[in-house]
Amino acid sequence: MSSIADNTKQQHIEQFMHQQNALDLLRFITCGSVDDGKSTLIGRLLYEAKCIFDDQVASLKQESVTYGTQGGDIDFALLVDGLAAEREQGITIDVAYRFFNTDKRKFIVADTPGHEQYTRNMVTGASNADLSVILIDARKGVIEQTKRHAFICSLLGIKQVVLAINKMDLVAYQESTFQDIHAAFVDFSRQLKFDSITAIPMSALKGDNVVSRSAHMTWFHGPTLMAMLETAPIPSLAADHGLRFPVQWVNRPHLDFRGFAGTLAAGTVKPGDEVRVLPSGATAKVEEIILFEQQLQQAQCGQAVTITLDKEIDASRGDMLVSAKDPCEVSDQFEVELVWMADEQGYLGRSYGMQIGTNWVNAQITEIKYKTNINTMEQNPARTLTLNDIVVAKVSLDKPVAFEAYQQCRPLGAFILVDRFSNATVGAGMIDFALRRAANVHRQSVNIDKAARNRLNGHQGKVLWFTGLSGSGKSTVANIVEQKLHQKGIRTYLLDGDNLRHGLNKDLGFTEADRIENIRRITEVAHLMVDAGIVVLTAFISPFRAERQSARARFAEGEFIEVFMDTPLEVAEKRDVKGLYQKARRGEIPNFTGISSPYETPLEPEFKLSTEQTTPEQLAQLLLAKLEL
Ligand code: ADX
Repeated sequence: MSSIADNTKQQHIEQFMHQQNALDLLRFITCGSVDDGKSTLIGRLLYEAKCIFDDQVASLKQESVTYGTQGGDIDFALLVDGLAAEREQGITIDVAYRFFNTDKRKFIVADTPGHEQYTRNMVTGASNADLSVILIDARKGVIEQTKRHAFICSLLGIKQVVLAINKMDLVAYQESTFQDIHAAFVDFSRQLKFDSITAIPMSALKGDNVVSRSAHMTWFHGPTLMAMLETAPIPSLAADHGLRFPVQWVNRPHLDFRGFAGTLAAGTVKPGDEVRVLPSGATAKVEEIILFEQQLQQAQCGQAVTITLDKEIDASRGDMLVSAKDPCEVSDQFEVELVWMADEQGYLGRSYGMQIGTNWVNAQITEIKYKTNINTMEQNPARTLTLNDIVVAKVSLDKPVAFEAYQQCRPLGAFILVDRFSNATVGAGMIDFALRRAANVHRQSVNIDKAARNRLNGHQGKVLWFTGLSGSGKSTVANIVEQKLHQKGIRTYLLDGDNLRHGLNKDLGFTEADRIENIRRITEVAHLMVDAGIVVLTAFISPFRAERQSARARFAEGEFIEVFMDTPLEVAEKRDVKGLYQKARRGEIPNFTGISSPYETPLEPEFKLSTEQTTPEQLAQLLLAKLEL
């Protein structure tokens, strides 16, 4: 008997699982703040869709009596806020994903905090959403935050918007209020890229038009929120999109096996398909597609598999396997939309880590075309980036990557920028298009190279990078070192801050942005000179670690020698060779290093020269004794 009962139960479970798997999935995001009634809305949706377990309902009823703001009625905000608080304990996930389903569909809703600082969380939550529910408090109408949310949704490629005009009970369910807000939003959104905007008047608190149709607003003939969510079209990447398979790692358990592991970002793949490895361009045929122990006849977008090829091809993490006949582009310069997410300012010319797909590269923002004022949609000029800025910019990478425009294929066009010292994510961006400049300018190969020049010179090129406060002795010591090297027949060149600022860098001042550009140019000049086989000595304050690090990264191992002139501020100030410290103290020189602008001490310089007890001559000798040239 019992085994028959078990079997029936088992069948029921299987049938249920089958139904569940057959349901399609809508991902959506809710934008708005708790004040707009967002928690109440989500709570109401889950409750009426019967997605809350009974014991949760019982405790909710109890808590609503104790803590609720709704005079004994169920306070749905308590439920959602409670879940969020639990989830946030210990870990800082700022986006909470909730799963629920009705008998028509499965849903994943990304719930993000609504405060303005949390733009970055919204960017995370919205990046794979199909639809966004933008909440508006009917008493307030379209406010700055609404515009910000709409703008970011559009930027992230969300095409369908449900405008949830909430708290209609507080405006006496007036149709005119609803119509005015709807019209204002449609008017603002003309400049955005939405395909559809569906406005729904509702009261999440009273349950009007969330799941059940409202008896208070018979003038409204549109769908309820739930009906909308259950029927909204789910956009999918075109089935005929070419294969895009970013290689996550190369799986080589033994010599006879070499597989490329990763997740299909777009398209499908079958054994026998011809693929191309980007950026190299080499082609091969797919031999096997392996999922755990199983061999697949085909893999779909979203599946994580290992692919083997019919011949040995050089590919590693960050490379991309694409359909040979329908490849994507490769470039190292892009025009992008960028959202700045850090409290720290972002600068042109500074080098950031960029993660794009499985690729890690170094990237610089080379130009900010404009910053958008989301209230007025005005495009304003900018030289730096501050928290929540949304800009169109140009970025330049230190090596080419395979990509697609974000609007064509989200996983291939989305990237983040990371601060190289703190490892914090400072920006999120979307590629608009590649700049042709890089595509059509190729490096010329030349016959006389660095090695040939070094043989002729009888020594290698190097850079001695002097850094330290103004008056720390950089120029003085560098000058002596250069003379001695010259006497030994070594080709040298001294690049000095004060001198270069009369020529190459005469357009630059002393703001952070200008100093970053100053050092970037010097790095490039020094790089050319080292390539020419010269021993370059640079004497610049170069106050920021990030730029000294970028300079170092531009040279081969052993070519870059950082010399820190370790002179305390009091000592440099007492010397005051150029009288500048006095002027700076009198407030006559803004942004003076050590006084009103920072100097970041080197952490691991090759040389640290203490200049208090030792003469410049002795320091130069000390340096030369240890230098291998
Ligand atoms: S850096 O910070 O961008 O590396 P750089 O070495 O080129 O500076 O120039 C520093 C020199 O410019 C100093 O030695 C000093 O003579 C002069 N100077 C003028 N204004 C400033 C300032 N605000 N801060 C520092 N140095 C200044």
